[in-house]
Amino acid sequence: MGEIIFDWKLTTPQWQFFNSDAKYRVFVSGVGAGKSTVGIMSGIKESVEQPGSVGIVVAPTYPLIRDVLYPELRKWLPRELVKDFSRHENTVKLNNGSIIRFRSAENERGIERLRGPSIAWFYLDECTLMPQMVWSIMLGRLRQIGYNCKAWATGTPKGFNWVFNIFVKNPIPESSAITGVPSRSNLYLSEGYFNSLEQQYTGQFAAQELRGEFVRFEGLVYADFSPADMIVDTVPEHYDNVIYGCDWGFKNPSCILAIGIKDEADYVLQEFYQSRVTDDELIGIAEEMQQKWGIGPFYCDPSEPASIEKFHRAGIRAERANNDVNAGIRAVASRISTGKLFIHERCQNLINELNMYQYADDEKDRPVKLHDHAMDALRYALIESKSESHYAASAEMMSAASAPIPGFHLDAASGFDDFDEDFNHERHSFGGGHMPRM
Ligand SMILES: Nc1ncnc2c1ncn2[C@@H]1O[C@H](COP(=O)(O)OP(=O)(O)OP(=O)(O)O)[C@@H](O)[C@H]1O
Ligand SMILES: [Mg+2]
Repeated sequence: MGEIIFDWKLTTPQWQFFNSDAKYRVFVSGVGAGKSTVGIMSGIKESVEQPGSVGIVVAPTYPLIRDVLYPELRKWLPRELVKDFSRHENTVKLNNGSIIRFRSAENERGIERLRGPSIAWFYLDECTLMPQMVWSIMLGRLRQIGYNCKAWATGTPKGFNWVFNIFVKNPIPESSAITGVPSRSNLYLSEGYFNSLEQQYTGQFAAQELRGEFVRFEGLVYADFSPADMIVDTVPEHYDNVIYGCDWGFKNPSCILAIGIKDEADYVLQEFYQSRVTDDELIGIAEEMQQKWGIGPFYCDPSEPASIEKFHRAGIRAERANNDVNAGIRAVASRISTGKLFIHERCQNLINELNMYQYADDEKDRPVKLHDHAMDALRYALIESKSESHYAASAEMMSAASAPIPGFHLDAASGFDDFDEDFNHERHSFGGGHMPRM
């Protein structure tokens, strides 16, 4: 086989990431900065340079694999290297014996299925949307004998979650982090795309979503949320009641939370969080959740009566939730401040939203309507929960609970300004864009 030359032209931050020889790497950027591209390119590089290696690409949902990662792979992987692509097995085999598998960490079952035989590398796309257990499970497989084993991840920050902890705050050994990469560093997207992004985000959301910075959100609605105390990896086996909170979406994610109530404490056991899901698919999800956790009422966003009716006709106890935002927030805040709310670590989107749900600057009693889907589902469930003991206890706590403090302020993260400057001033790609010949 002749030598293949990869004629890729990477942006400065992509190039830095691509060439890093750290065993563990992360690329944290604004949306559209070229994360998935450089993640996939890195996978192709390992597969080519290490014949016979097995690598796995993990994404939070299957549609992301189908609609984003496969097209990127197709764009960058030369046909003549491919022996076989099985959509059924979500596996690409290369002529040199290397294998690239694609897996989604969609739910608990998806995450458990990530366990398996040895691999030489893995790549997590949208790592901030997946729980840390995905990274940990995959690390356990990183031991294909005779290979230089590596792992990398790409994502846009979602508050200070585990990705910040393991790559920036207390970096794991042999790791390197490229953070604060702005969306605009991607020279391959149009001005119109960036303009439309900039219209969507302001304030701290702009810093996070467009500049890829880890941001400590001000004016947090749930300022008392304490990940160390509230995120748990084990939960009781049996509950007095199980209830569900449901927020409808389509372009935005739909969210269903399963909540077990025991001894007056609420345990969020599982989240479903995905966009472009139909009512019929959601019914299937709801049924699966009930099989796993038990039958219970679904307290639903009242703005979509047709969806509630569909649930009802499918035999699900769907009810219109009370959509009084402030009363719902008080119900959730009281559980938090009294230490009666626990969240299973697999519910990463709920955890992310709790860290970002903030009051608008100008309207102190109105939360910003961004990343609030799990927040809505949670308040629908907790305001409506009618278990006698549960209700009585929470009413009592409510008066004692401290109200959320609008304008609550913590210092913004520092240390990323220099990075930001660099990237803003260096908007050139590598002319010639040479990849090593492989
Ligand atoms: N080095 C490059 N050369 C050519 N095209 C690129 C390059 N990097 C990114 N692109 C293109 O820019 C677009 C956006 O890139 P990509 O999807 O990788 O960004 P992203 O940061 O993963 O976006 P999102 O935040 O939506 O996940 C894609 O069409 C991709 O093919
Ligand atoms: Mg992407």
